[in-house]
Amino acid sequence: MAEFSLPKNSKITKGKYVKAEGATNVRKLKVYRWNPDTGENPRTDTYEIDMDSCGPMVLDALNKVKNEIDTTLTYRRSCREGICGSCAMNIDGTNTLACTKSMKDCNDTVAIYPLPHMDVIKDLVPDLTHFYAQYASVQPWMQTDSVPLPDAERLQSIEDREKLDGLYECILCACCQTSCPSYWWNGDRYLGPAVLLQSYRFLADSRDEYTGERLEDLEDPFKVFRCHTIMNCTNTCPKGLNPGKAIAEIKKLIAERHAL
Ligand code: SF4
Ligand code: F3S
Ligand code: FES
Repeated sequence: MAEFSLPKNSKITKGKYVKAEGATNVRKLKVYRWNPDTGENPRTDTYEIDMDSCGPMVLDALNKVKNEIDTTLTYRRSCREGICGSCAMNIDGTNTLACTKSMKDCNDTVAIYPLPHMDVIKDLVPDLTHFYAQYASVQPWMQTDSVPLPDAERLQSIEDREKLDGLYECILCACCQTSCPSYWWNGDRYLGPAVLLQSYRFLADSRDEYTGERLEDLEDPFKVFRCHTIMNCTNTCPKGLNPGKAIAEIKKLIAERHAL
């Protein structure tokens, strides 16, 4: 990851200002720019956007910059409907999805930065390698020892299925993960809210038979217990999920296991 790190003591400088000549309905995007190949400090470029020829979302405005003004602007996006999680970024100080954030709900000059406290690969693209490795470490798939009946699904009651509501909808955008101060300071060993919500999704699944092993693996001073209930995670989740509650449930399961 080191190759993506900013130079030490790098300051964000003011970059170029691009006017939308002749436009009457103008909004501005102030966008973080950093290119590892130039060796220069990061900067913010400001682009005027003609809103009469732009879609309503922040992602539409970024696409307009990339398509019509500056093709070097780099960011991730795919579904443009809040499902893939790839357009997560910090907009006006809040982590969210650019494709579901309306320009109407932003400041006059929309400030756009990469997700905070992550190494940056380029411009608005954070390095999620460590995040994905942490995700893989909780083995986010159903595990069983019992032999399934031939030609039959593993059934679940309606009540047990409902326990997965608020968990399965997570799109792994990392907005919560990168809003958590505990994760900023201890991200090497604390698993963080997104990964813990995913972990709880399998702890809460009545069909999974590895609850004990999963809890044993989580029992460590850092992996779960560095959550100090700050709740930035829940406040910022663009899907309206509650990772803070999922972490509290994991802590409860660990405590109950000890009480047995
Ligand atoms: Fe994104 Fe919400 Fe999942 Fe966190 S819990 S990764 S903010 S969808
Ligand atoms: Fe962080 Fe959320 Fe816990 S912000 S400290 S993971 S409640
Ligand atoms: Fe897929 Fe925004 S582009 S969530």
